[in-house]
Amino acid sequence: MRTHYCADVNETHIDEVVTVSGWVSSRRDHGGLIFIDLRDKDQVVQLVCDPADNADVHKIAENVRDQFVLIATGKVRARGEGLENPKLKTGKIEIVVDALKIENKSLPMPFDLGDEKVNEEIRLKYRYLELRTQKSYDIFKLRSKVTIAARNALDELNFLEVETPILTKSTPEGARDYLVPSRVHGGEFYALPQSPQLFKQLLMVGGFDRYFQIAKCFRDEDLRADRQPEFTQIDVEMSFCEQEDVITVAEKLIHSIFDKCGFNIPSTFKRMAYSEAMENYGSDKPDMRYDLKMVDVIDIFERCDNEIFSSIAKTPKKNRIKALKVPKGDEIFSKRQMKGFEDYVRKFGASGLGYFQMKEDGLKGPLTKFFTEEDIQMIIERCELEVGDAVFFGAGEKKLVWDYMGRFRIFLAEEMKIIPKDVFEFLWVVDFPMFEVEEGRVKALHHPFTQPKTLDYEDIEEIASIAYDIVLNGTELGGGSIRIHKEEMQAEVFKLLGITNEEAKEKFGFLLDALKFGAPPHGGFALGLDRLIMLMTGASSIREVIAFPKTQKAQCILTKAPSPVDEQQLKDLSLRIRQHTAQ
Ligand code: AMO
Repeated sequence: MRTHYCADVNETHIDEVVTVSGWVSSRRDHGGLIFIDLRDKDQVVQLVCDPADNADVHKIAENVRDQFVLIATGKVRARGEGLENPKLKTGKIEIVVDALKIENKSLPMPFDLGDEKVNEEIRLKYRYLELRTQKSYDIFKLRSKVTIAARNALDELNFLEVETPILTKSTPEGARDYLVPSRVHGGEFYALPQSPQLFKQLLMVGGFDRYFQIAKCFRDEDLRADRQPEFTQIDVEMSFCEQEDVITVAEKLIHSIFDKCGFNIPSTFKRMAYSEAMENYGSDKPDMRYDLKMVDVIDIFERCDNEIFSSIAKTPKKNRIKALKVPKGDEIFSKRQMKGFEDYVRKFGASGLGYFQMKEDGLKGPLTKFFTEEDIQMIIERCELEVGDAVFFGAGEKKLVWDYMGRFRIFLAEEMKIIPKDVFEFLWVVDFPMFEVEEGRVKALHHPFTQPKTLDYEDIEEIASIAYDIVLNGTELGGGSIRIHKEEMQAEVFKLLGITNEEAKEKFGFLLDALKFGAPPHGGFALGLDRLIMLMTGASSIREVIAFPKTQKAQCILTKAPSPVDEQQLKDLSLRIRQHTAQ
């Protein structure tokens, strides 16, 4: 039905007869002449329907509307001087149509296809129409390139692509499971995998040495711009390896993907310890595209004459007082703005936000009166303050201060518009703690299969693990670890997590058994494919880079899933619906 794709017709085809087919992107009736921009998968080509050339064609063209499906045959000609469109690949030519067929009509578009401000529900209801836009096509073209590049790179590195089950048993990645009721085993459920974590470990026990999979994962968790209930990982596992080997493979993979897609990135990435990331950037995924950094001033504040600060400073193990310097901040922000920043951090639990301004005649601000001249000098030196700078202080419990000062850092960078576009700043965050304690409960920071560096401890939160995350432009792109491969250690970690022997046996008995049959040392990582594409394309949400995404409320507006099922289906599954409790 075509001799050429629309975008491929160019000056080399002048005087040739070509056939193109596609959708009407726009139609302009200039009284006599009708111009149609026809688009297939990629860019448009201009069709001209001239009643002087072919009256029948012109008549058909009069009935053409946006998004009608056409098949057009005609001679290619140069557009003529002043009529060229340098923005288009096909901008130098047009096709003078000699035969035109309306292959299918279309209802008027329910929304303006290119307009991203249109309500998302409408866009998702007609997602197939939105996919017809150039922007969508470019995203999915890149996504396809990325997965092919990943497969090729991993194949070259001797990784075997293996599929693992979707109907499976719960794996603890920290979210709720999606459950599937079993008909055959009434009252019992499969869980959809939150990741292939345990299966990939079993493949290592199975002696496959190097595994990968472009894997679908399912997590019932609160959704955000970079989270979907159903998403894809490039999932990797390897045997007889240490952290360094895994990091090398991940860097080779990422480099190869970016290279094949025409992006220039370094072949190895910077590294930062988790503790440094938290202390300096208040986040385990610091955005390294800009240089705002926090410094510790708790020792100086301990000596100050303000009861609140000095008492916080008395327990430096539990608390933090952090200063965030903003170069030229005093010149950029008004006093009112600086005071207003307090409202921002209060949203995240801060009880206040102090600030100083570096003026010609020294450090100024509401707090200076509490410090000696000497300590003021120390603040200036510690924060490396120059005239025109501003510095903000957060004080309180350490996790709280890290969190709100970390968020404030990003907020300021956005306000100041200092985040460069079109750069890729990768960072490995390494040496994660093995456990964290939340409301008295011990939790695994990565997952319970991560290898701790030791299990001797005074403070359980100080046990380090062999775990690493890869961060790109302040987004967690992926994570991984060296795994526990000895049953005794795995049992010990379960115990520390408060999982009883019976529970461990019931939930992970198959893994504990496998570890008893000669499990090799192994480790791996997973990259979030959707997040990768979002960052490569500059999309604002991963929903843009998933062909048929769910809404923030985890619904597929297009198919209306989830939806009720009929009584017989419930009966077959031995289910009865209790009164629905809205979440
Ligand atoms: P983790 O849970 O860190 O590790 O997931 C790895 C990466 O998957 C992406 N990701 C998501 N993307 C979109 N929507 C979500 N809801 C979502 N959740 C996670 C992120 C994340 O960095 N089994 C381990 C990996 C390993 O240890 O090898 C795992 O799944 O980009």
